[in-house]
Amino acid sequence: MNVPPIDLSRAHGRIASQLAERFAGIFQTTSFVLGPEVKELEEGFARFLGAAGCVGVGNGTDALVLALRALGLQRGDEVLLPAFSFFATAEAVLLLEGVPVFVDVEPTTLNLDPADAAAKVTAKTVGVLGVHLYGRPFDVTAIEALCARHELWLLEDAAQAHGATWQGRSVGTLGQLAAWSFYPTKNLGCFGDGGAVTGPDAGLLARVRSLANHGQAGRYNHLEVGTNSRLDSFQAAVLNCRLPLLAADNARRREIARSYAAGLAGVGDLRLLADPPGSAAVYHQYTVRTARRDGLQEHLRQQGITSSVHYPVALHQLPAMAPFGPQPAVPEAEAAAREVLCLPIFPEMTDDEVAAVVTGVRAYYR
Ligand SMILES: Cc1ncc(COP(=O)(O)O)c(C=O)c1O
Repeated sequence: MNVPPIDLSRAHGRIASQLAERFAGIFQTTSFVLGPEVKELEEGFARFLGAAGCVGVGNGTDALVLALRALGLQRGDEVLLPAFSFFATAEAVLLLEGVPVFVDVEPTTLNLDPADAAAKVTAKTVGVLGVHLYGRPFDVTAIEALCARHELWLLEDAAQAHGATWQGRSVGTLGQLAAWSFYPTKNLGCFGDGGAVTGPDAGLLARVRSLANHGQAGRYNHLEVGTNSRLDSFQAAVLNCRLPLLAADNARRREIARSYAAGLAGVGDLRLLADPPGSAAVYHQYTVRTARRDGLQEHLRQQGITSSVHYPVALHQLPAMAPFGPQPAVPEAEAAAREVLCLPIFPEMTDDEVAAVVTGVRAYYR
């Protein structure tokens, strides 16, 4: 049996007829940019999260950059962020000539280690950019306390965590702002690029909305230099079809995660990640750790099972960081990059496919 890492044609099949109707509506109104589909998505996603508002933008990277601008990031400002994430997390800070300070991760969650974050605060630190990696919330309570102690802002990179909660509160509402990606493979994904910024503060969100539309406050009244980063109506239409399915899709991801945990606990040298008490992860990825990562991946490939490595290099060791000078070691993040393997997980996955993955992994260790 071939098991893909994700199958977006199955996702499309579930919404195809509704999506065709919405697309026909867009052609009828010719509202291609910032039309009713975008408004519906912004209102619906804000309601889903319990956020003060939602601003649709071009992609998750722009969402991060626009949020950092709204928070006032200046050249030379230091931002604490995890050394283990997708590059965009650090890239957004670098694009604004800020300084990413690479914090180590906890070995059991691969999320920000609050103690290491506290140790890396300096007089130049202005904020924390926390990532809810793989759909698992970082320790928001500890990071909020750190931010309060040092008067730092908290920006959530929620690109992998649509629907996750921390102590009953939705991620995306916990810091001053949150950045989302709707890249097709995300838990809430469109069929192209898309992103959003959410948060609890309507004033900051209004600033993001203006920055994303050329710094305008009303037509041709440009108050500052912004950019063009708007969510387009076709992508919003996809998201409007998929948002009502998100809660059930996340429940199915959790069910698959439970099957993996039951089938893989204690197998070989596998280490499964842990969900801290009070957190509800949404399993954007199901990630295991093993010293024999490359061998396991190749074994699975021979069985027709496609796994993936997110991410093979810690951020501070990427070639793109070389011009910024030597970066201090970040040991747990470096170990994670050597050991992680992400198994197939998507809501439309069948029980037979899940069982095939468990059997395939177990066979490698026999
Ligand atoms: C953690 C994280 N941050 C930021 C991004 C950037 O989002 P996008 O690809 O929509 O620009 C991604 C998406 O891949 C991500 O996984």
